[in-house]
Amino acid sequence: MKHNIQKRVAELGVIQPWNHNYTLPEGVQTRPGTQVSHGKNLVKLERLKPIFDAIGLHGKSILDVGCNEGFFSLQMADQGARVLGIDIDTHRIEKARYVQSLLGEGKDMQFESIDIYSPEFKALDRFDLCLCLGFIHRVPDPFSAIAALGDRSDMILFEWKALKFGPHDEAFAYFSPKPIDQSDYYGTEYWLLSYAALERVLERVGFSHFHRIDDPRQKRAILVASKNPHPLFEQANQVIHRGRVPTLLSHGKRFLKTFASILNGRLNA
Ligand SMILES: C[S@@+](CC[C@H](N)C(=O)[O-])C[C@H]1O[C@@H](n2cnc3c(N)ncnc32)[C@H](O)[C@@H]1O
Repeated sequence: MKHNIQKRVAELGVIQPWNHNYTLPEGVQTRPGTQVSHGKNLVKLERLKPIFDAIGLHGKSILDVGCNEGFFSLQMADQGARVLGIDIDTHRIEKARYVQSLLGEGKDMQFESIDIYSPEFKALDRFDLCLCLGFIHRVPDPFSAIAALGDRSDMILFEWKALKFGPHDEAFAYFSPKPIDQSDYYGTEYWLLSYAALERVLERVGFSHFHRIDDPRQKRAILVASKNPHPLFEQANQVIHRGRVPTLLSHGKRFLKTFASILNGRLNA
């Protein structure tokens, strides 16, 4: 059994390296050693847990957009939600289905290879909640992506690589200087949006309630957006204050890195 799982994990990893480190039966890990990605997802999960609790997942229908290998879909299904995980990348869906065959027994989840810009996506049911994690900075046209998601659900939970060195209340978008990632095409970075930029786009497509969870030391921002009232939106935004000096240092470092990459691009042009 262990040998078979190891063999299949290795085969799937040759087509494309595993992103999440799952611990499968017999202790087989999908991405042993580095733990970087798994750690990131666990950090993400820790940050998101209070939101999941506030929303309440049991019995909800959830669309996990850009689900990758299904880590968060599995978490949602564990909580009693009915989950559809979709991803444009067929290899990732193949991996998610393999993990499901080993860890998904009794869980109400399904994985499909679907592009959010496609007619197939438009034809999907509507969902109580859409998870949009690590996604909105990975699509070339965030406006139509957000409009498409808003057609499928009245509540969206975003976690994304935000524009963190500007004021969040200004609607800034910054186009990533990183080139297309040929080895991971769908992992290419496009627009980095500030909180306000994302909220203004969402307003244009009918969303009116927002709840921010911001940790100035994290590159990643979290926003819950809804078209309808919910007790969550009666709470104040959660901004974790780390003190001015660490915040300034972390913003300064990011600013310098971005400035250096722009300069580098100019010099190489
Ligand atoms: C960085 S991963 C995020 C994975 C997961 N949500 C998480 O937070 O760990 C972004 C995913 O979005 C998928 N993706 C990119 N463009 C897409 C599109 N147009 N439609 C559906 N999925 C897409 C990629 O294949 C990739 O798996």
